[in-house]
Amino acid sequence: MKTELCKKLNLDAPIFAFTHCRDVVVEVSKAGGIGVLGAAGFTPEQLRLELDWIQDKIGDKPFGIDVIMPTSYVGDDVPDLEAMIPEEHKAWVETVMQKYDIPALPENYQRSSHEGASGSEIGWTHKICRELLEIAFSYPGLKVMVNALGTPPQDIMDTCREKGILVGALAGRVKHALAHKKGGLDFIIAQGHEAGGHTGEVTTMVLVPQVVDAVYPTPVLAAGGIASGRQMAAAMALGAEGVWCGSVWLTSPESEVDDVPKQKLIDATSEDTVRSKMLSGKPARVLKSKWTEEWVSKECPGTLPMPLQGMIVADANTRIARSKSKELAFYPTGQVVGMMNDEKGCKTIMFDMLNEYLESLDRLNGLLEEA
Ligand SMILES: Cc1cc2nc3c(=O)[nH]c(=O)nc-3n(C[C@H](O)[C@H](O)[C@H](O)COP(=O)(O)O)c2cc1C
Repeated sequence: MKTELCKKLNLDAPIFAFTHCRDVVVEVSKAGGIGVLGAAGFTPEQLRLELDWIQDKIGDKPFGIDVIMPTSYVGDDVPDLEAMIPEEHKAWVETVMQKYDIPALPENYQRSSHEGASGSEIGWTHKICRELLEIAFSYPGLKVMVNALGTPPQDIMDTCREKGILVGALAGRVKHALAHKKGGLDFIIAQGHEAGGHTGEVTTMVLVPQVVDAVYPTPVLAAGGIASGRQMAAAMALGAEGVWCGSVWLTSPESEVDDVPKQKLIDATSEDTVRSKMLSGKPARVLKSKWTEEWVSKECPGTLPMPLQGMIVADANTRIARSKSKELAFYPTGQVVGMMNDEKGCKTIMFDMLNEYLESLDRLNGLLEEA
């Protein structure tokens, strides 16, 4: 497919895979799309290990990186963010952990790359993001940089330009997309309400055509609710130049998701997700569980603003994962989780998506011939 982004990035198909998993990055890029590694959960050391691995395995294929440099968050000028977390919240998290018999982490616990950064190291501040990007910029295969919650700062854009890296950002509202266009971004990801992770109020079907028209001629990728070829065809029909998918890879054998949450994802229906502030302090769509329910219970002291909420749940989330608690297990995922009912490999997901995309075009053209 020869969309502008396919030509610039030398892709066979305009399928962008957002993922936290290096194996997914490599598989999708090798299959002709492009894998984009979500870096926000890694420490700089962990990110270096992941990128070394990707660069080694990916050959001459391109890959991308995604960071979370929010336009607004508390404490960007505070040296000790940890001190901003109220004792009441810490005590409440501990009470919930005890209620469900979730053991504490061993003393001096060393997190693996798979477990990501601890609360105080979490990459949701400009300071930590800049450290992550500085590392990423040294890899020759890096061809795309995306920011999740705002237009990237000008100096980061300038560095990307010098290095030939295309810059994109997510937008959940037309207003955000216009700000990105003004900032000179190379492409914009219009992400609808049904998406996994941080997500806004407007659905993909309604948002994409509005963003396409508002930012023309900047290319737009459609995100949120896209896991099949029919959904891809719909996105392209809305004017998108490609698709940006995050949930569909989570149940693949390559994915980073542990067995317990993976089985919950496979078993889930599209009604089993909720937009919750428990993950980061901003609304993010995740799989429902007792953990998400606790954060809206009467006893809960409320969520904290970003990045404090992410800091307070980081250790608790690791404890939940290590304990293999079925009740509390959750994962960010979109409503397409209801279509992710087996452990299809990334290459098969891509192949099936493209096949069904072509079948959809045939079907639509056939309708014209019959008329
Ligand atoms: C597990 C998970 C984590 C996510 N984390 C991020 C993130 O760190 N940065 C980001 O830009 N988007 C993040 N997202 C959103 C994706 O980039 C993407 O827009 C979304 O998954 C698309 O909708 P879908 O889930 O229906 O495919 C995340 C999505 C998922 C499923």
